[in-house]
Amino acid sequence: MPLLNILKYPDPFLKTKAEQVNVVDDAVKALIKNMIETMYAERGIGLAATQVGSSKRVIVLDVPDPVNKETESAMEGKERGSQRGKNLVAFVNPVIASLSGETTYEEGCLSVPGVTADVDRAATIKVKALDREGNPFELTADGLFAIALQHEIDHLDGILFIDRLSRLKRSLLIRRYKKIMQEKEHAL
Ligand code: NI
Repeated sequence: MPLLNILKYPDPFLKTKAEQVNVVDDAVKALIKNMIETMYAERGIGLAATQVGSSKRVIVLDVPDPVNKETESAMEGKERGSQRGKNLVAFVNPVIASLSGETTYEEGCLSVPGVTADVDRAATIKVKALDREGNPFELTADGLFAIALQHEIDHLDGILFIDRLSRLKRSLLIRRYKKIMQEKEHAL
């Protein structure tokens, strides 16, 4: 199964708006499969089709359950990947039907590697979508799942988490990002 190339900021394709999927056909199913493999290979908790150069409204997520201190120490030494697939879900044509509350979380993105920033989001959201078989479903998400879902749906509208920051914070972060990318290039 081929891994997909993840576009990195400032690739202009990341600013494009993805299009509705009319039929969940074999091509869409293959895209979903490859996106899941790519997400795991890159150790991400979510991935949007826009990030892999596809303009289909498709996202995949596998957000780990929150760990409290006790289970965390019990899991010590074990691979965190053991949870892999537990919360795996694909959304085709996801639409946020309602949002409520507020939360702030330090987000990162596979398309903007090396930097993170606090982003304000809704705390709870209701999402309607089609599943991998093309069947409609809806779910209510909160916690990190809700945050990641909003982050991925933003990608489908050409919005990166850095676009959610104030101008000042954004320009500081981009400057840091460019420096990191430059150092990376020199290291190779
Ligand atoms: Ni992202």
